[in-house]
Amino acid sequence: MTGWREPVRSPEEPALHEPGLALHVEDLTVSYGGAPVLWDIDLDIPKGVMAAIVGPNGAGKSTLIKSVLGLVRPVAGHVRIFGLRYREARRRVGYVPQRSSVDWDFPVTALDVVMMGLYGRLGWFRRPGRRARAEAMAALAQVGMEDYASRQISQLSGGQQQRVFIARALVQQADIYFLDEPMAGVDATTERAIVAILHRLRDAGKTVVVVHHDLQTVRSYFDWLVLLNVRIIAQGAVPETYTAENLRRAYGGQIALLDQQEAPLVEPVPEPEPKPTDPHHLEAGQS
Ligand SMILES: Nc1ncnc2c1ncn2[C@@H]1O[C@H](COP(=O)(O)OP(=O)(O)OP(=O)(O)O)[C@@H](O)[C@H]1O
Ligand SMILES: [Mg+2]
Repeated sequence: MTGWREPVRSPEEPALHEPGLALHVEDLTVSYGGAPVLWDIDLDIPKGVMAAIVGPNGAGKSTLIKSVLGLVRPVAGHVRIFGLRYREARRRVGYVPQRSSVDWDFPVTALDVVMMGLYGRLGWFRRPGRRARAEAMAALAQVGMEDYASRQISQLSGGQQQRVFIARALVQQADIYFLDEPMAGVDATTERAIVAILHRLRDAGKTVVVVHHDLQTVRSYFDWLVLLNVRIIAQGAVPETYTAENLRRAYGGQIALLDQQEAPLVEPVPEPEPKPTDPHHLEAGQS
């Protein structure tokens, strides 16, 4: 490829390209001035999975994503996206920030917001024309927001704003998407729509990394899990990683709160052995 140069690296910095990995984070430590909020993070996310980053408030989930995207400067560590530094992989990365971190008062329409996702992609979109508009409208339609295209973003509900930001990520046609709590504060219908879109991306070979708060849906939505609380508590395929013991370690003192919720939230024990005479089981088995 013309113009590509082997990145300059210091002798002690290892070559981090692993073909099967979408994201590789090594020895990452981040501090905002005081005690580290992320400590010595080693993380690998394979290509083509839908991964959840889960942990209590203040665990460093948003900070982890921001440091991967170069928005927060780490004290130490390396990040590689498809084997590349962020600035080399930037065009292949889509990002939906946590809603509370966005200033929703800027005077642009929903369509404008989605069009912003196109600017970085291709030179010929420099002045958005009819084609860019059509593409942005199609993305709005995908999230069920086409009727709100000309509405000011500040005049949309929280869930609608969230969907517009997802449409913006969709038009980027990235290979890896980072979404920071995309399901927070949306209704059940919107949540289903968002999950369906993310599953479609995953099924098309994209890697989807989602900061997620609802433990109840981890197993049904995700195939990969990263449990974080300043340090990495556990990471891996959901069936092996989503265990009561790991959740306890991630949530520490807050586990009492978790234990008050329904048992299936924190006790991912195997499905009960179905009784052959159980009519529910027969129905389920036939469907
Ligand atoms: N810009 C900042 N300056 C100073 N401290 C910060 C800053 N951003 C985050 N922090 C602190 O860093 C820690 C991790 O914050 P972060 O936002 O990454 O947590 P989180 O896991 O995303 O939490 P939540 O579930 O509430 O979104 C918290 O203790 C937070 O107070
Ligand atoms: Mg956060």
